[in-house]
Amino acid sequence: MKYKRLGSSGLKVSELSFGSWVTYGNQLDMGTARECMAAAWDGGMNFFDNAEVYAGGKSEEIMGEALKKLAWPRLKYVVSTKFYWGITDGPNEKNTLNRKYLLHGIDASLKRLQLDYVDLVFCHRPDPNTPLEETVYAMHDMIARGKALYWGTSEWGANEIREAWQIADRHHLHKPVMEQPEYNIFHRERVEREYAPLYDQTGLGLTTWSPLASGLLTGKYRGGVPPDSRGAISRMQFLVASLTDPAKNAAVGSLEPIAQELNCSLAQLAIAWCARNPRVSTVITGASRASQVRENLGAVEVIPKLTPEVMRRIDAATAGKAD
Ligand SMILES: NC(=O)c1ccc[n+]([C@@H]2O[C@H](COP(=O)([O-])OP(=O)(O)OC[C@H]3O[C@@H](n4cnc5c(N)ncnc54)[C@H](OP(=O)(O)O)[C@@H]3O)[C@@H](O)[C@H]2O)c1
Repeated sequence: MKYKRLGSSGLKVSELSFGSWVTYGNQLDMGTARECMAAAWDGGMNFFDNAEVYAGGKSEEIMGEALKKLAWPRLKYVVSTKFYWGITDGPNEKNTLNRKYLLHGIDASLKRLQLDYVDLVFCHRPDPNTPLEETVYAMHDMIARGKALYWGTSEWGANEIREAWQIADRHHLHKPVMEQPEYNIFHRERVEREYAPLYDQTGLGLTTWSPLASGLLTGKYRGGVPPDSRGAISRMQFLVASLTDPAKNAAVGSLEPIAQELNCSLAQLAIAWCARNPRVSTVITGASRASQVRENLGAVEVIPKLTPEVMRRIDAATAGKAD
């Protein structure tokens, strides 16, 4: 496992990391969640991604409990959380990045995680109803109060990120250092084009999500929705059209010979494809069982095999399917 700097910050994160969306508190009980984290750690992952909204706070509780039991030295791992959607009802509790919610939210997350601080805190989506300056000052204060070490954004437009960075720069505040966008073979635009100027202008680092497009890139949806998969979960029905898209599944099929030649699985090929992008600091993987974590860790061996020629073949196999 390699450890890469998170953008221009000094923090190093493992090139593959582990996240708890969908699974923690929904699919996974405490024991399996801990087993997945232990497998990730044994394979060298040092970053564990979370968000307040995942399973309405339960995901943070499970991760907190797991971290306590695993008892790793706090210096050795990186944990994140994110705010925007909120988990309770009220005028200042939903869809907001206002100062009141952010400074309340971090205390509640730390309690659920049983931690004194999180390493990374993300503004989970942009909030058009709060002045950006208010959000930037609140994120700075969260860091100044020792409750988080670095802050960033998730799925913000490039202009919004740049503006937040400029506000922080003007007022000598902690600047946003990372973004968390979706990035996989079928979803490239933002990372490869929209954010391109920011990597040098602001030193933006990326912690990317859904490297397998929720499982589509493993090839397991080619014969329909397997009963033990994300696509079979009732809350996840919004994903089924994409997971079973015939053109995308055909493209996944044409990746198979490439994976075979490289002696790896489709999942490993897809994860390695994300990690080979030097702008990506860490690829956040997801898994519903420890065997998937172990398989996905094998992607680190595949990254050096992705020569320009192999990358061209992957592009040709998926041409016209990516957005
Ligand atoms: N910032 C954001 O807005 C945002 C949004 C989404 C995710 N994220 C973060 O990114 C993390 C990863 O996203 P993701 O879970 O969507 O990643 P993903 O890699 O696209 O999908 C992971 C899912 O695919 C299946 N899978 C994984 N490895 C497999 C394998 N080797 N073989 C077969 N199936 C396999 C598992 O689901 P089943 O076994 O149930 O099919 C697993 O839960 C999340 O946990 C979260 O921390 C952030």
